[in-house]
Amino acid sequence: MESVDAVGVAPAVFPAIVSSSVPPPGADRAASRPHRPAVHHRKEEMSHTDTPVVLITGATSGIGFETALRLSQLGTAVIIHGPHELPVRQALTRLQHRGADVRYLDGAVADFARLGEVVALAEHVHARHRRLDVLVNNAAMAAPAARCRSTDGNELTLQVNYLAHYLLSRLLRERLRAADGRVISVSSATHRATDLDWTDPQRQLAYRPQVAYAQSKLALTMFSRALAQREPQLTAISVDPGSTDTALLPSYGGIGQPATAGADAVLQLCSARIRVRTGAFYTGLQIGVPNPLVHDDKALDRLWRLSTALVGLDRAIAARAA
Ligand SMILES: NC(=O)c1ccc[n+]([C@@H]2O[C@H](COP(=O)([O-])OP(=O)(O)OC[C@H]3O[C@@H](n4cnc5c(N)ncnc54)[C@H](OP(=O)(O)O)[C@@H]3O)[C@@H](O)[C@H]2O)c1
Repeated sequence: MESVDAVGVAPAVFPAIVSSSVPPPGADRAASRPHRPAVHHRKEEMSHTDTPVVLITGATSGIGFETALRLSQLGTAVIIHGPHELPVRQALTRLQHRGADVRYLDGAVADFARLGEVVALAEHVHARHRRLDVLVNNAAMAAPAARCRSTDGNELTLQVNYLAHYLLSRLLRERLRAADGRVISVSSATHRATDLDWTDPQRQLAYRPQVAYAQSKLALTMFSRALAQREPQLTAISVDPGSTDTALLPSYGGIGQPATAGADAVLQLCSARIRVRTGAFYTGLQIGVPNPLVHDDKALDRLWRLSTALVGLDRAIAARAA
């Protein structure tokens, strides 16, 4: 494996490299809020060339953390994302204590309740990494008991669990394409038991936490197949990791397997050596049966257009190209 920059062991905070010429979606509402600093080891680009790079959203705990640990132990460069700086730092430290090579670790902070921070995360990846082989759309929150809105005005669960990943995947697609990359969206079996309410996708009229969570996972699973259809150079799959004993479990299940087991399928699906069928929904390592909407091409188109509008993507891309 080619060597990369030797970097200091202790993570250091630098001023945000996330400031960019791209006006974040929702910038009108979030303009006065400063970007958070990204957590990383060095300010300049990391010089990975031959080392595969994987970005895992929500890698501070649970399935994301265990996947990051195993990948980094295998010599993969991993970008550890989380919504708050301290848990990202703590995750980096725990990874180092468990044998991960610090030269291959990077950390990034972005609260998906703010779409501007998702844009900043994409900019962080562009600025720091010459390649991106795999994006694992893993971060998720349990739906709050009462309906909440994000700073961008979207129902919070829909934004954190789905819209943020829609935006991130699209902003990173060129890097991923260049690497014949994979986008792995961590879904949930709960997505099967719900519907997308086209008249009220933001659940303003009727909000139930279980339904809001399930709908966010349905949207993510549909998006995964839509992405596979639209981006033939990429491999896009979704996976239900199975009931897993993590911070999220009490909200949606009773007994779960250890997080290491939940991470196992995600880890293997990250490997270019494991052949997968793009567009498919996996239950563990087997192809599973998703909600019928996942195979409804009209519904996929409709969701794509709705998502583009909700995240203000056209505006962000136009500004970037200008
Ligand atoms: N556990 C299960 O039984 C189960 C079953 C099926 C599917 N899944 C899926 O597996 C994935 C991983 O979940 P997990 O079970 O490992 O739960 P977890 O340990 O709670 O991990 C969730 C991750 O998402 C991050 N996150 C939460 N809110 C965020 C926000 N606003 N912005 C950005 N990141 C945010 C968390 O960061 P902090 O902790 O630092 O706040 C954490 O890193 C999720 O997509 C979940 O839907 C889990």
